[in-house]
Amino acid sequence: MKRLTVPKIQNRKADGETKEPLVMLTAYTARQAQLLDEHCDLLLVGDSLGQVIYGLPSTLQVTLDMMCAHGAAVVRGSYHSVVVVDMPFGAYEGSPQQAFESASRIMAETGCAAVKLEGGEAMAETISFLSQRGIPVMAHIGLTPQAVNALGGYGARGRSQEEHAKIISDGKAVQAAGAFAVVVEGVVEPIAVSLTQSLDIPVIGIGASAQCDGQVLVVDDMLGMFERVPRFVKKYGNLAEEITDKVQQYASEVRARSFPTEDQTYQPKS
Ligand code: KIV
Ligand code: NA
Repeated sequence: MKRLTVPKIQNRKADGETKEPLVMLTAYTARQAQLLDEHCDLLLVGDSLGQVIYGLPSTLQVTLDMMCAHGAAVVRGSYHSVVVVDMPFGAYEGSPQQAFESASRIMAETGCAAVKLEGGEAMAETISFLSQRGIPVMAHIGLTPQAVNALGGYGARGRSQEEHAKIISDGKAVQAAGAFAVVVEGVVEPIAVSLTQSLDIPVIGIGASAQCDGQVLVVDDMLGMFERVPRFVKKYGNLAEEITDKVQQYASEVRARSFPTEDQTYQPKS
């Protein structure tokens, strides 16, 4: 299987309609990437790794070094999906030049195909600067977690007319600036639907609508690694319970000296 490309992803929305929705999950490690790769179109090395991998309180503390290390691991572990790496808070908002320096470092050190950044109209100039210089950009609008302090929390967006209009104009602005796709997070369904219908680039939803051109979730959330997940997450499994169970078994066998057995023990040649 050859690796998908950014133009192929963008072209999945030919005639303003995506016949087969795009499948995207986050991935943070090489092994995770190996397991997800053939089932996905896109792997996102999300800055959600701040909470998921590092136990940080939000994505605001995530660094470029972290994104580069995990981005490189995910590229090494995959050969089919388009790998997109999040630009961390503080690494791109200052100016288009700053964004170019960060994005080019991410692309050179990881081998990823594209970067993602949060923001609509306010980031349009930056998106255009990057895409004109050979860096494919995925935009992220609606609930943008790096702006949690300004938004006042992680609640769904677009419940008011003004907010609705703002999200649609953000989508149009990032498309006009050259973004190849856009993630819309945590919005009421009518906005997700009208955004999807208004744009020619794929709209990938998270906490949005089944009518988007694709879906993304945080992989640890959907696998059930956490007790508490946002309402838009469907838990397809309960890995946390499974891990706890296995670790309990191991611990009690060690304490009972029933692990290791003969099978796991070396003996001298007789
Ligand atoms: O960081 C992340 O995981 C994301 C997705 C949830 C879209 O940005
Ligand atoms: Na993110």
